[in-house]
Amino acid sequence: MDMANEYNSSEMAIEERIRNLLTEMTLEEKTGQLNQVQWNGWEAFDALADDVRAGRVGSVINLVDRAAVDALQTIARQESRHGIPLLIGRDVIHGFHTVMPLPLAQASSWNPELVRDCARISAQEAAVTGVNWTFAPMIDVSRDPRWGRVAESFGEDPYLTSVLGAAMIDGYQTSDPASPDTILACAKHFAGYGASEGGRDYNSTNIPPNEMRNVHLPPFKAAVEAGVATFMTSFGDIDGVPASGNEWLLTDVLREEWSFDGMVVSDWESITQLCTHGMCEDEVDAALVAAQAGVDMDMVGGLYSAHLPHLCESGEISMDRIDQLVGNILRTKIRAGLIDGDRLDQHTEEPARLTALAVARQAATESCVLLRNEKDTLPLASDQISSLAVIGPMANEPAEQMGTWVFDGKSERSVTPLDAITSVLEGQAEVDFEPGLETTRSHDKTLFTRAVEAAASCDVAVLFIGEEAILSGEAHCRADITLPGAQADLVRAIRQTGKPVIGVIMAGRPLALGDVIEEFDALVYAWHGGSMSGPALADLLFGRAVPSGKLPVTFPKVSGQVPIYYGHKNTGRPPEADKVIHIDDIEKGAPQTSLGMTSFLLDAGYEPLFPFGFGLSYTQFAYSDLHIDRHEMTEKEMAIVTATVINTGTRTASEITQLYIRDRVARITRPVRELKAFRRQELAPGESVQVEFQLSVNELAYYHRDGSFQAEPGDFDIWVGGDSRADLHTSLRLLKA
Ligand code: NOJ
Repeated sequence: MDMANEYNSSEMAIEERIRNLLTEMTLEEKTGQLNQVQWNGWEAFDALADDVRAGRVGSVINLVDRAAVDALQTIARQESRHGIPLLIGRDVIHGFHTVMPLPLAQASSWNPELVRDCARISAQEAAVTGVNWTFAPMIDVSRDPRWGRVAESFGEDPYLTSVLGAAMIDGYQTSDPASPDTILACAKHFAGYGASEGGRDYNSTNIPPNEMRNVHLPPFKAAVEAGVATFMTSFGDIDGVPASGNEWLLTDVLREEWSFDGMVVSDWESITQLCTHGMCEDEVDAALVAAQAGVDMDMVGGLYSAHLPHLCESGEISMDRIDQLVGNILRTKIRAGLIDGDRLDQHTEEPARLTALAVARQAATESCVLLRNEKDTLPLASDQISSLAVIGPMANEPAEQMGTWVFDGKSERSVTPLDAITSVLEGQAEVDFEPGLETTRSHDKTLFTRAVEAAASCDVAVLFIGEEAILSGEAHCRADITLPGAQADLVRAIRQTGKPVIGVIMAGRPLALGDVIEEFDALVYAWHGGSMSGPALADLLFGRAVPSGKLPVTFPKVSGQVPIYYGHKNTGRPPEADKVIHIDDIEKGAPQTSLGMTSFLLDAGYEPLFPFGFGLSYTQFAYSDLHIDRHEMTEKEMAIVTATVINTGTRTASEITQLYIRDRVARITRPVRELKAFRRQELAPGESVQVEFQLSVNELAYYHRDGSFQAEPGDFDIWVGGDSRADLHTSLRLLKA
């Protein structure tokens, strides 16, 4: 057995290898491993090469030049004293050269296998450049669509996020993360980043323990269970303690409770920012606090290399602590096949372009959610229309449809909706394209006239509107989440033509569409669907594919309703129905109690525009025969819930069946509904299937104040159906032990 195989063969051998390396390394070489630096181009290559040679660098971020990677890895292996290769990190968030739909869009597919396939293709494409580490999945539960990073999330639900996060990790890493066509995944941002106050990025979060344990932490725990190699801290401060200096999160929870033994990287200069937050006095203090809290690697800040050696020499931080941090990084590198493995000697190839595009197309198709379809406006019969007006500023924008986080995305791979529709209708019908507005943000209505004329002279108008890529993503938050610019007016102007109006919204967040929804005969929410958004949309519009996506986030009617999510608490004064009071109608001097004393907004009620889990199809599904094999069970038993789903329409299509529970009485109030299981399956017209779910005490339990995970005996409601408003109901009583 050669050395490589010996050290990769068992955990014990890995730990021995780490001990041996640590014995041989100097303090500077150790802190060098904790240092991630930025690639600054070939101009800065020599200086970087010197640092790598001297063991002053553990990782390089944003390097995708294979020649440079090879040169640096060769120096690291052959010229540095211990031959420890580099982690090469890059944000491969939803695709690499081939761009997959945004994570939020992928979440609309509720299809873990597909999410895994997207990550697999992305990993294969990225690995060719020498990248061996990505900063994904982002599994921050996101309940505020003002926050631009909702685009990068899997939405509002802890369970859906957990399942899809695990699938994405599997796609990047596979079961063999030492294989050369994999990249290490990173669960980020630990933790609670999605709860930034007011939807403003980087803002403080105030998350009480109950909310932290039951909403924000579960996806991260699931990521550990899925074998994620690395974690990234959040920029935010939680209850007054910034995440990069948060010992409770990074040590007590992550290491001690969850036994995570991979590595933790800070976010970009987030150790330095401990000073800006006002937690640390200076950079020396920040390095000390972060290292003691449990951050293993400093992303770009350079504070660990600059200060940990002297902090260690003066005894302010122990060598044992430094060894733990370095050990976590070495362990990660060994598992990735970098140290002693032969990964770096094997060059891989990109997956076939057609394979990558086929996955991107399937993902874009399954990501779309049909929100409205009055009188079966969709699908369009391509042989029955002679002319179609393609309107809107998003119809032909190859770069914008890719969305945020596409450093390496090739916009020349994008097929736009205009391209795809033109090719479907070629020789059959006229396509008249008018953008109507120059960008989604334009207020200049000069182009309206031509757009209206085009719509008026065609059989049907399809409007591609929404948000350009720059309006969502990191630091790109909006207070008013309605359609930007004069797009709502464009929709109304087209409506005036009397022609069928089909809306396609391409955006990085749920938009508040309460004021325009009635203007559409049909509405498809396509998010930013990536390279193959156009063909996917053409397939759906012309019925070559059937919409199957369901919302992973609740859609508000107006911006002021956010945060809005289905898993809210009941309150002591729940609203009776969707009561909305137009404040202009309130009589002067009306008694204070006359409007009702419940938990609603006078002018918006409390109902969303579209609920979590919602999505229409070109067929219909009916649910019946909800059955539970027992109405009482002990903690050791398991209940089997079944329901029949039948496709009562005329098209073969996929339905996503969802199971929700409610813990009726608990000492810590529980949400009015919680998703606990889902199943996606295809049914032919007339076909029915019995869907079966198992409920164990795990699905009934929640985290209590003392951190324990237990179910309280008592009654639980159970619903099964096609969205979070499912009304087929049964119940289960958990008996006292
Ligand atoms: C900052 C972002 O918050 C994080 O998600 C990303 O991975 C890093 N920058 C690296 O680019």
